[in-house]
Order: sequence, then structure tokens, then C-alpha cells
Amino acid sequence: MNNRLCELFGIKYPIIQAPMAYITWADLAAAVSNAGGLGTMGPNPGPGFQEEVPDVEQAGELLRQEIRRLRDMTPNPFAVNFTIGRGKQIPYSDRFVEIGCEERVPVAVVSMGSSSVYTKQLKAAGCKVLHAVGSVSHAVKAQADGVDGIVCEGFEGGGHLGGEELTTLVMVPQIAGAVDIPLVAGGGIGDARGMVAALALGAEGIYMGTRFMVARECSIHNNVKQALVDATDTSTVAFGRSVMLSRSLKNKYTQEHMALEAKGASFEEMRDYERSGTPSLKGRRRSAAANVDGNLEYGSVGMGAIAGLIKEISSAADIINGMVQGSPGVMQRLQEVLPTQ
Ligand SMILES: Cc1cc2nc3c(=O)[nH]c(=O)nc-3n(C[C@H](O)[C@H](O)[C@H](O)COP(=O)(O)O)c2cc1C
Repeated sequence: MNNRLCELFGIKYPIIQAPMAYITWADLAAAVSNAGGLGTMGPNPGPGFQEEVPDVEQAGELLRQEIRRLRDMTPNPFAVNFTIGRGKQIPYSDRFVEIGCEERVPVAVVSMGSSSVYTKQLKAAGCKVLHAVGSVSHAVKAQADGVDGIVCEGFEGGGHLGGEELTTLVMVPQIAGAVDIPLVAGGGIGDARGMVAALALGAEGIYMGTRFMVARECSIHNNVKQALVDATDTSTVAFGRSVMLSRSLKNKYTQEHMALEAKGASFEEMRDYERSGTPSLKGRRRSAAANVDGNLEYGSVGMGAIAGLIKEISSAADIINGMVQGSPGVMQRLQEVLPTQ
């Protein structure tokens, strides 16, 4: 195999498990790395982050513990996600990056902000840096800032989305044509067909979040895993354009959120709604209501539009093996259906 991404990270397959806040703990990342992919941990991994927001020092030490637990579970390379905070989150982001550097994480996946912020610091500590973007101009900037690879996250994906709303199909070939460093395609990939398609578009690897939510090793409530298995093509919605665009399972929470937004609620009113919630949340954050309690009505159940393709709960290794073993059949079909001279 002649794949720069595999060489760069020292991995067997160009399959990266994408980070998902609160649910991608050491267990999932280790299972993916042990199966030959690149597991990514964080943000906020482990039980200590689920209940209350710890202070900056406590949060940093919780992250350090979880990085060490991950290192004990796999001899293979792994990644840790560092999101770029805004406002009150900045001291947390800064501390997490310091801990990542101290712990010499092999790969840093940096997302939700500018590549100028942490690239130099992470590279100086010896980490490889993958930067997540949602447009060609941000990819070009990340390359100029010295990152080792780029992840482009399409609008089909789960969780927070890029404001330009570009899909994976249109973004991958345009970014592939604009940068020289390895490109990883994320958003809407769930099987070997998606993987081959992404590589055909110019990516050298893939990045999957939603597909790995149903891995047995993923620390999320079983109700959410079952909701993914039951999902159809129309089960998710992109919402929250005035606050922070995200894709989640359609439920009472997303309905009420969209209704408030349609009435012209201010940013503060939207934030209050997200935080105050309903009695059924019992004071929990929306994400904890989904992840820990399995509240599918009022919890924030982030997932991508590819959920409709998911049919079973399985191990991370089975997911990776299915992608790898399914690829030759997809290539064979291409040879059959592609017109040749
Ligand atoms: C529940 C959930 C939480 C997510 N949280 C984060 C996060 O904290 N940081 C981040 O960079 N991306 C986050 N993402 C986005 C993923 O890393 C990735 O871009 C996305 O899952 C790819 O699309 P897919 O879901 O179709 O595979 C999240 C996605 C989901 C579904």
C-alpha cells in the first residue's frame, strides 16, 4: 500500500475514528488503534466529565489520566482531540493542549477554530497535527500554518458543522486540488462504498464518527445505539444556525430549538433554552441526558445523516474489518459499471 497517511501515523489502515465530545473515551480509541485504524480520544473523555464541569486544573488531570489509560490499552499510535475554545473555554483548551504536549500524544486532531492557535506548540512537542476544516480556504491556511494533514468535515456529518454547509462530495476534490499534504474525508461515510468513494475523490483516508457510535466499546447509553440502528435516511436534522450549527437526531429538543429560533429568539434566549431544558432532564446538561441517561426526547443526540445505513451494534474491530474486506467488492463493481473504451 502506498498511502502517505498510513506512513505518517504508522497505522495499518487509513481509517480514523473521529472524536466525539464526552463519548470517545480511551476504550473506543484503543479498540480502533488495536484494530489497525487510528483511534481518537476526547474531548472530555471519561466518567469525571459526565456530571459537573470540573475546574481547569481538575479537567486537565482527568484528561491526563485518560491519556495514560489509553496508552496502557494499546501499543499502537492514537490521537487526542483538542477543540479551540472561545470565551470562558479558552483556559480549558489551553490546559488540555499543555497536557497533550506533556504526555507526548502521537497525533493531535485540532478542531473548531484557527490552525494558527496550537499548531506550533503541538509540533514543537513532537505531535503530528491533523487540522479539521470546512472549506478550501481554511485547508490552504492550515497547510501554510504547518499542519501534517487535513480533515474535511462535510455537512452530512454529526455534531457541530462548518458554517459554509459544504458537503463531503463537493469539498473533498476541491481541497485535494488545493493542498499537497494528506487529506482525510469525514462526514457521511459508513461503509466500504463510502471509503472507496472518498479515496476516489482525492482523500487518502477517512474519518468516521457516527459509524463508531454503535461500537460496543463506545461509552454512550444503549438507547442511543438503538436509535442509530433504528434510524432511517430522514432521522437527523441540521439546526441551530443562530447559535452553533449541529446535526442531531430529530426529537423534542431539536423541534423546540428550531421553533424558538424561527420566532427570532436572541442568542441568549437560545443559550438559556439549551441550558434550562425541561423537568425530564433533572438538571442535566443536554448531552449528558442523552449519553448517560439515554433520554432520546430532550437530550442532545448528535449523529450524522449516515445513521440510516447502520444496522447493528458491533465491535470497533468488526466495523474496521467490514470496511477493509468490503473494498475489493466495491472496486470490482466499479470495473463492471464504469464505461471503458
Ligand atoms: C455525537 C458527536 C459529537 C461530536 N463531537 C465532536 C467534538 O467534540 N470535536 C470534534 O472535532 N468533532 C466532533 N464531532 C464531529 C466528528 O468528529 C466528525 O467530524 C463527524 O462525526 C464525521 O461525520 P460522521 O458522523 O458522518 O461520521 C462530533 C460528532 C458527533 C456525532
